[in-house]
Amino acid sequence: MGRCGVEVVEIGACPAATTAEARLAPGEVAVHRIALGVGGADLASLEAVLSRDERERAGRFCFGRHRDRFVIARSALRRILSVYGAGAPAEIRLRYGPKGKPRLASDCGTAFNVSHSKEVAVVAVARGTEVGVDVERMRAMPSGRAIARRFFSAAEAATLERLPAAEFGEAFWRCWTRKEAYVKARGDGLSLPLDSFDVSLEARGRSLLLATRPDAGEAHRWQLLDVRIGPGYAAALAVGGRVGRLRCVGFPGPPRGDLLHEVGARAAIHRDAAETPHEPPKRPPEELTLAEPRGLHGQDE
Ligand SMILES: CC(C)(COP(=O)(O)OP(=O)(O)OC[C@H]1O[C@@H](n2cnc3c(N)ncnc32)[C@H](O)[C@@H]1OP(=O)(O)O)[C@@H](O)C(=O)NCCC(=O)NCCS
Repeated sequence: MGRCGVEVVEIGACPAATTAEARLAPGEVAVHRIALGVGGADLASLEAVLSRDERERAGRFCFGRHRDRFVIARSALRRILSVYGAGAPAEIRLRYGPKGKPRLASDCGTAFNVSHSKEVAVVAVARGTEVGVDVERMRAMPSGRAIARRFFSAAEAATLERLPAAEFGEAFWRCWTRKEAYVKARGDGLSLPLDSFDVSLEARGRSLLLATRPDAGEAHRWQLLDVRIGPGYAAALAVGGRVGRLRCVGFPGPPRGDLLHEVGARAAIHRDAAETPHEPPKRPPEELTLAEPRGLHGQDE
């Protein structure tokens, strides 16, 4: 068992032909990785499983590649949820929390969360507990220190401030994805002040959620861990309670490009912690946009 006490199982393709095979054991969380840049995907058949509002949303994207990524991600989400017992992909109904967190409308005990960055999306699935996931493609952040000072907690900003330039980038993205995974697990979005909790900036650690305010007990009610997505990406997962086993699934098929190289179509069990540390949000909230050249969200999409 790794330092986090989490057994990590990597599987190259969706293992579940039936819902019985996909059933999650207590304390088990599944993380599915979806390649959004799959050329030649039959988008029409993927779109066929989307709900009417999802098809309308797809139709509102200005750029075709964004639309395609959305269609691939949503259809994959529906297929994944189906495998975990939520019903036929096209029949699944989603509802949205007050801050926009999607949930299954049926009360089947399955919770999920989605994140995307560039050509990858990640879907985390858990049973009977909340889950949040964030993936970001790591890239140079010229305004990273200013962002940290303005939005992260004082402890996080101070730790980042002390880091040499060579270590700053990865630590920044570790911090970012860990914070966002927690915020997403809670469903609060950015209504939860980012300085009201501290995450670890270490590459590894047993407990990545260090402190929560004003309720210090929150820190013990969640487990925050990193997920290995692939080179150049940082990803984190937050789960209510304790994670005993992390099932990492490449979905829907064989690896593609450098991103998928690492996890590959192999099955391997890592007894080390689920730790690894992915582009900042595609559509940042106004309040996080800094008036700096090539700021947080100013680079490509
Ligand atoms: C939900 C939120 C936190 C994440 O947005 P994001 O990083 O831009 O995008 P992600 O790809 O990680 O997540 C988006 C997905 O989260 C889900 N989501 C939406 N609202 C959510 C909420 N309140 N809680 C949890 N999940 C939510 C949705 O599934 C959404 O994707 P979809 O609509 O295509 O299905 C959003 O509030 C946001 O705008 N964040 C800004 C990012 C930021 O500045 N973070 C600072 C981190 S330090």
